Amino acid sequence: MDLDAKIDPTKAIELRPGLWWIGWPDEDAGFSNNPYLLIDGDEVIVFDPGSRLPQHWKWVRDKIESVVPLEKITMVIVHHQDPDLCGAIPLIEQEIGVNNFEIVTTERTAVFIPYYDVKTEVTTVEDGEIMEIGNGRELLFLTSPYLHFPGAMVTYDTKEKILFSSDIFGGFSVDWNLFANKYYFEAMKLFAQPYFADKRHVMNFLNKIEPLDIDMICPQHGSIILRDKVKEAIETLKNLEVGIWT
Ligand SMILES: [Fe+2]
Ligand SMILES: [Fe+2]
Repeated sequence: MDLDAKIDPTKAIELRPGLWWIGWPDEDAGFSNNPYLLIDGDEVIVFDPGSRLPQHWKWVRDKIESVVPLEKITMVIVHHQDPDLCGAIPLIEQEIGVNNFEIVTTERTAVFIPYYDVKTEVTTVEDGEIMEIGNGRELLFLTSPYLHFPGAMVTYDTKEKILFSSDIFGGFSVDWNLFANKYYFEAMKLFAQPYFADKRHVMNFLNKIEPLDIDMICPQHGSIILRDKVKEAIETLKNLEVGIWT
């Protein structure tokens, strides 16, 4: 695969059968935002749906609609409480109704979801919990404390061996590519150094994911990391000085 090939960011990009990148690059912020759409049987899941700014939501909404009608959404999984993930949840509610889809997150994050004026009940999951979806695909939820929120989590798709890593493995990059190339590790450093405060939390997380066979990392910012770069991405975080914001 040509990792430097420019994709059309106005289109949903199919990453695997049933999995699409539905994000948008935000040049002002210096990063891309990466919601993902996963369809398995009757289950239609949006990971970290994004911002509520009309121009941002339009990107995501149009991309979902290019694949599946919005009202088919059955689940929204949010990995922490930030507005770049959760801002769009009330907009989904407006379109498909309160309690017509499930919201899944950790207990600590669930406290903040109603602050977005979300009325739908939130389902909470614990560290290590496995949820079966669609045609028997299993999603494993792992907490990632303090990266960068105490109640943060990630999701591992055991079927496709994909880690939806939220802000972990994210990157700042003006010259953005959908797939991580050799320059991405510098972008990752720029993101991780100020966002993560303490190396103990980083190592705790890396130890937790060590047993996982990871074919692809799908972060919420930056570029998607394919199998041949996963090891280097992990090593980059392992050897990084964090908490450098002064
Ligand atoms: Fe965040
Ligand atoms: Fe984020």
